[in-house]
Amino acid sequence: MPDLAQLRVDALACTRCPLAGGRTTVVFGEGDPHAALMVVGEGPGREEDLAGRPFVGRSGHLLDRLLLEEIGLRREQVYIANVVKCRPPGNRDPQPDEIAACRPYLEAQIDEIRPAVLMTLGNFSSKLLIATAEGITRLRGRTYPYRDTDAVIVPTYHPAAALRGGGTVLAGMRADFVRAKGILAAPAPPVGSR
Ligand code: URA
Repeated sequence: MPDLAQLRVDALACTRCPLAGGRTTVVFGEGDPHAALMVVGEGPGREEDLAGRPFVGRSGHLLDRLLLEEIGLRREQVYIANVVKCRPPGNRDPQPDEIAACRPYLEAQIDEIRPAVLMTLGNFSSKLLIATAEGITRLRGRTYPYRDTDAVIVPTYHPAAALRGGGTVLAGMRADFVRAKGILAAPAPPVGSR
């Protein structure tokens, strides 16, 4: 299995889908490669595309705040990635073929990092990693296994939804971050069990 550094090299040269043609940079992901918490968003926006880093715009500032206020973690202490690594034009939704083309990068990132908790932000990452057609409003509020691993998925709203939707969405997100904190605080599964 390629390590994270090799995966990044591969992703930076990727032309597997049409998003490659419109990007400024590939936003591979960043953070602690040994993080217990991995956060998965949707895809880079304009600021992320320019910076080559995930969640550096308004949504990112809210994500940083929630991580710190509800879990007590700075963003460098978690790993942050997206479903698609290149910006969809005009911030449109990523298309099924784009998600399928990029999926091996995300799955390999998860396999390398082996987080205890995967927080999925919004519909795209939640549906992909839980492997369901159900929407985020119904999915959030409980946890799900990630494939056949010990990693636990905690789905929550995308921070952009909280920025648009106000108090109720934000309160739901805070509750989900607290749920993730509780799982992170629980004893790790015995060595050799994963
Ligand atoms: N929204 C996302 O889903 N990902 C980012 O990196 C930035 C905004």
